[in-house]
Amino acid sequence: MTLPHGTTAPPFIKGPVPLAFLAVLFSAVLVLLGAGPAPAAGGEEAGNSCYSCHNRLGGRLGLPAKEFHGSVHREAGLTCVSCHGGDAGLPDEASMSPRRGFRGKPSARRIPEFCARCHSNIAMMRQYNLRTDQFAEYRTSVHGKLLYERNDPNVAVCTSCHGKHDIRRKTDPQSLVFHTSVPATCGRCHADPALMKPYGISTSQLEDFGNGVHGQILYGKLAGKNPGIAPNCATCHGIHGATPPGVREVSNVCGNCHGAVVGYFRESAHFTAIRDGGGPKCVTCHGNHTNRKPTLKVFSGKGPGECGSCHEEKSRALEFAKNVRDLLAGLESNLDEIRNDLSEAGKSGRNVLKLKSAADSTRFKLIEAGPMIHAFSIERILPLANEANGYIRQARQEIRNIQEEQRQRRAVTAFAVTMLLLIAALLAVKVSLLPKAPPPGEGNEEDKN
Ligand code: HEC
Ligand code: HEC
Ligand code: HEC
Ligand code: HEC
Ligand code: HEC
Ligand code: HEC
Ligand code: HEC
Ligand code: HEC
Ligand code: HEC
Repeated sequence: MTLPHGTTAPPFIKGPVPLAFLAVLFSAVLVLLGAGPAPAAGGEEAGNSCYSCHNRLGGRLGLPAKEFHGSVHREAGLTCVSCHGGDAGLPDEASMSPRRGFRGKPSARRIPEFCARCHSNIAMMRQYNLRTDQFAEYRTSVHGKLLYERNDPNVAVCTSCHGKHDIRRKTDPQSLVFHTSVPATCGRCHADPALMKPYGISTSQLEDFGNGVHGQILYGKLAGKNPGIAPNCATCHGIHGATPPGVREVSNVCGNCHGAVVGYFRESAHFTAIRDGGGPKCVTCHGNHTNRKPTLKVFSGKGPGECGSCHEEKSRALEFAKNVRDLLAGLESNLDEIRNDLSEAGKSGRNVLKLKSAADSTRFKLIEAGPMIHAFSIERILPLANEANGYIRQARQEIRNIQEEQRQRRAVTAFAVTMLLLIAALLAVKVSLLPKAPPPGEGNEEDKN
């Protein structure tokens, strides 16, 4: 996947192959004209004066050469000249003459266009199977708008999120935009109070996100959950079109992963109310960034996002809330009891398959209830409650069966033990009535010698 190499003098030039020589000359001319990414040579090879001179320099002038080593651009055969222009064949600073196409260092404001020269070039990017909409999307983002409309130098440009000379593929774990590294990359600005102060927006997103279920999964803190399935900042805000998701988009964004929840939610009075401008959205109840499953207190509380914050005492909504709370609390405590009985019965070696199956079915109903609650309708929940109660009755019956069986076994055992004791007693009486037997003979002792 490397681009054609150009201006190194390959050994075959010495041989009689004038066509190849012409080809080399032609691509060298292309480089001089600054057309596309045709590179001068492998980034660090001899003959690239930009690299060799800058690599000797210290500080900010030397860093680019050092960092370029691990870059996807170097891997693709690009060189300093591909981005900066100039003539890497000249040994001194004349190589950086504007007459040699030298573009210098782009200002922050110019960087998006600087990168887009290649990344919006469909013909060039097709061979790498890369999208070409990053710049177009960027311009629609909050960052891009502030940059172009207000000349704001604090916003993110391409290099803020990707790095400068050490840009890597998004699939490279060292990349700043690797799936699990994105929060830290956004957080470099969004968690910086000094930088964010003029805008008056909070700087808690990174921390909040880390405390929610999504962050816990992304950072590998929930055992058994794959970090790949959790959203990072860019999943919700858009990758290059970073904008706060609007009302409609939020439920769409969440719905990409929580399809079942959104399905029920669309049936609800809340969804209708949102369209009319006033209902609770996903994030009203779950928070923007600390996304968690609420505790049962949400149904009875009056705090932000809790049902009582919008609904009046004795309203149908709070009646529903109370019913659902009672249902969930009941299911949970029943399930706990069944689990206890199950583990007791398991210890005694009884056959607990039926009990286990009733417990599992109850648990699955509880799992189903999670998304279904979002229909906020008692008609939806009732059949599920009835089924769940059916399984609980089955489990109860099974526990009674097991206990009855245990009781019977104990009775049988008690009977058998009594009988054995009786027989033993009778035998003892009988033995005591028999004539005394002679003591063991001495012959046995002699046998041992
Ligand atoms: C002989 C050493 C040498 C060579 C060869 C060289 N540079 Fe430089 N380069 C420098 C020095 C010294 C500076 C700082 C000059 C200044 O600030 O005026 C510099 C500055 C730069 C800058 C920053 C310009 C800015 O606006 O701040 C870029 C970009 C750059 N070089 C790229 C290149 C490229 C591309 C090549 C090859 C075509 C190249 N250099 C060849 C020594 C060199
Ligand atoms: C993918 C494009 C790209 C390539 C390839 C590239 N650069 Fe740069 N370079 C940039 C950009 C963008 C900046 C401006 C970054 C910034 O905002 O400071 C920059 C800045 C610089 C600067 C100024 C640094 C500073 O802090 O002022 C120097 C010097 C430089 N590059 C040298 C090089 C050298 C030498 C190479 C080859 C080893 C190279 N660049 C390869 C894109 C590139
Ligand atoms: C606010 C941060 C941010 C800014 C600004 C940004 N990017 Fe990205 N970029 C990302 C993230 C995050 C990904 C990884 C997306 C993924 O995992 O699919 C990415 C992916 C990419 C990719 C890989 C291909 C793709 O589209 O998925 C390219 C190429 C790219 N960006 C180029 C650019 C260019 C060019 C600019 C400037 C016009 C830019 N980016 C600005 C965050 C940013
Ligand atoms: C001279 C053309 C050129 C310029 C200018 C350029 N790139 Fe690239 N870039 C490429 C090519 C070609 C690739 C594909 C490498 C590959 O897939 O093998 C690439 C790959 C990338 C990738 C990796 C995409 C992935 O697979 O995840 C990112 C990110 C990226 N470039 C960002 C930038 C940014 C940011 C800038 C501006 C500072 C920039 N590029 C400037 C040509 C360029
Ligand atoms: C270089 C610093 C920087 C980086 C990196 C950065 N941002 Fe920003 N971002 C800003 C600034 C500055 C604003 C403007 C704040 C404003 O207008 O409220 C902003 C605005 C935003 C907004 C709009 C906030 C609002 O409601 O006003 C969102 C959303 C956002 N950024 C998301 C992200 C995401 C997601 C990432 C990472 C993929 C990211 N940003 C990376 C600096 C940055
Ligand atoms: C699960 C989706 C989701 C994730 C993940 C996410 N956000 Fe948000 N973010 C939101 C929503 C929803 C809002 C509120 C939008 C609104 O009020 O219109 C928001 C608002 C914001 C704002 C505007 C200011 C504010 O706090 O209201 C910024 C800045 C922001 N997010 C940055 C980030 C950063 C940085 C990350 C990663 C650490 C991130 N977000 C992760 C959904 C998400
Ligand atoms: C990229 C996929 C994705 C997106 C987008 C997403 N989530 Fe999640 N979410 C998950 C995964 C995966 C889990 C963990 C589920 C599990 O425990 O199996 C989760 C868990 C949750 C939980 C906790 C559930 C529990 O059982 O503890 C809540 C609440 C939640 N998400 C709300 C939201 C909200 C609100 C949004 C939109 C603002 C959203 N999610 C966007 C993937 C996503
Ligand atoms: C009016 C408040 C409210 C709104 C609006 C809301 N939820 Fe919930 N959500 C809850 C409650 C309460 C629970 C806990 C139910 C339980 O304990 O089983 C919950 C549970 C969840 C769960 C965990 C489900 C499970 O499997 O246990 C996810 C995921 C979730 N909500 C996502 C969303 C999404 C996505 C939206 C927007 C489409 C949304 N919620 C809208 C209150 C709400
Ligand atoms: C942000 C405000 C808000 C919050 C928080 C909220 N709701 Fe609502 N709810 C509404 C609005 C607005 C409506 C539609 C108008 C109406 O019927 O009162 C509604 C309607 C309802 C309805 C239908 C009422 C009917 O008469 O048919 C139920 C049921 C309901 N909500 C339950 C809940 C529950 C349970 C919670 C807590 C988990 C909750 N709501 C949290 C605003 C809210």
